[in-house]
Amino acid sequence: MKIGVIAGDGIGPEVVREARKVLDASASKNGFSIDYTDILMGGCSIDRYGIPLTDEAIEAAKSCDAVLMGSIGGNTTTSPWYKLPPEKRPEAGLLGIRKALNLFANLRPSILYDELKGACPLKSSIADAGFDMIIVRELTGGLYFGERYTREQNGLTTAVDTLTYSEEEIRRCAVKAFEIASKRRKKVTSVDKANVLDSSRLWRKVTEEVAKEYPDIELSHMLVDNAAMQLVKDPAQFDVIFTENMFGDILSDEAAEITGSIGMLSSASLNETKFGLYEPSGGSAPDIAGKNIANPIATILSAAMMLKFTFDMDKAGSDIEAAVKTVLKEGYRTGDIMSDGMKQVNTDEMGTLIAERI
Ligand code: IPM
Ligand code: MG
Repeated sequence: MKIGVIAGDGIGPEVVREARKVLDASASKNGFSIDYTDILMGGCSIDRYGIPLTDEAIEAAKSCDAVLMGSIGGNTTTSPWYKLPPEKRPEAGLLGIRKALNLFANLRPSILYDELKGACPLKSSIADAGFDMIIVRELTGGLYFGERYTREQNGLTTAVDTLTYSEEEIRRCAVKAFEIASKRRKKVTSVDKANVLDSSRLWRKVTEEVAKEYPDIELSHMLVDNAAMQLVKDPAQFDVIFTENMFGDILSDEAAEITGSIGMLSSASLNETKFGLYEPSGGSAPDIAGKNIANPIATILSAAMMLKFTFDMDKAGSDIEAAVKTVLKEGYRTGDIMSDGMKQVNTDEMGTLIAERI
């Protein structure tokens, strides 16, 4: 396996190191070998080359079967990276690589583990029902990729961002959402703001067309403001949530937090091939970087997604997920998911424990 590694900034290098440990354990158990290629992106690329993503980095990523990523970015008020023009900041690297590799479908599973019910911020009558959903977020269109500018007009500064979707951009991602639903509980909730936005009305129309190809899947529509509310009121109702880029960005943080910690949320960004970029959905957490206290589980679960989606190694991927559950069941917790009576461990201890259970 040829795996590109973007360790990135903040806690990225620490959590990626643990995911590699677990992947290496899986490789020796299952008899495959991994060739890792380090790739610079984000703030560390700015420090070295002055830009967050070089053409060489894109080419290096393209030459791999998959990319494992940590996180990019720093403290937006204190880091010198944020004195640069927007297109030279760390986030531009992440958006750039998603676009360059055409990673239009972002999968973010949100599962409440029985062991973490105590860390779930929802009241127990809701947490007890549990939940297991996956957000399919469109990742290369919409507001984050539309034309934007800031200009002076009649002495007033005005900023403009545009939200554009073509039917093809919606369709190809809808197909992914329905394909995923067909292997799960067969429910797609498409989230939009069709009572206001044209792009959402097109979203609904195209999603309904795609749904006709999947007669055994139940499609419903939900407005995004209601979806934000339903996620904390009754998360068990969701199986697959299909939504546009910005709504998915926001709702996936919310869906992560109700699992107990954003440090639990893995993700896969896919295109039409088997290639994928796998990353935890949480940020670079600069405040705890370098302290060996970050939760590596989201990155480890992202590596499990890599084995499943890119390499079709479902069993090896499930073994990693099972190892995570076992370690949680045994009472080990990083600080973010710590509760009374549990054993607190740091980043590398958590990685080692999970690798040992493979
Ligand atoms: C995420 C992040 C990124 C996004 C940022 C860092 C550009 O928040 O992956 O959710 O908005 O996509
Ligand atoms: Mg986000």
